[in-house]
Amino acid sequence: MHKSTDNPTATAAEMAAIEEIVQRHHDQRWPLIPLLQEVQEECGYIPPGAIEPIARGLGLFPAEVQGVVTFYEQFHMAPRGKYVVRVCRGTACHVRGGSTILKIVKRDLDIDENETTSDMRYTLETVPCLGTCFLAPAMMVNKDYHGKLAPPKLRAILKQYDGPGK
Ligand code: FES
Repeated sequence: MHKSTDNPTATAAEMAAIEEIVQRHHDQRWPLIPLLQEVQEECGYIPPGAIEPIARGLGLFPAEVQGVVTFYEQFHMAPRGKYVVRVCRGTACHVRGGSTILKIVKRDLDIDENETTSDMRYTLETVPCLGTCFLAPAMMVNKDYHGKLAPPKLRAILKQYDGPGK
């Protein structure tokens, strides 16, 4: 499996949805963040082509919109996989083998941090702490927490997300 390196382009349907969202927010004060959240909910990410219509709709410079998208970690400029794997790189996890866990996930998915598999199934991210240090080493797959990870258990967990029904 290889990482997805495509430069994402919004589809016509996504652009129509973006225009509609901009129209709806355009009379509000300071609507940029909720508007971006809606676009991301609709498209799964903020397509680069969305920056210009959003800026135009809100009377901002494109660089201002771009700056906000880049500043907030919650916004993503590229499509993400169906499953977002977040491996903790915090201290509690690190001392209990977190770096080995990360290495295995990278190798099994054949991607690096912040990359997505070419089949758009997995995106790999690391986080400073998942807030479940008692489960160290820990990771999340979408909203599911997985803790006290060890290599065999980790492989079984990743396999769960590989099935055709998933
Ligand atoms: S350090 Fe890993 S969950 Fe807190």
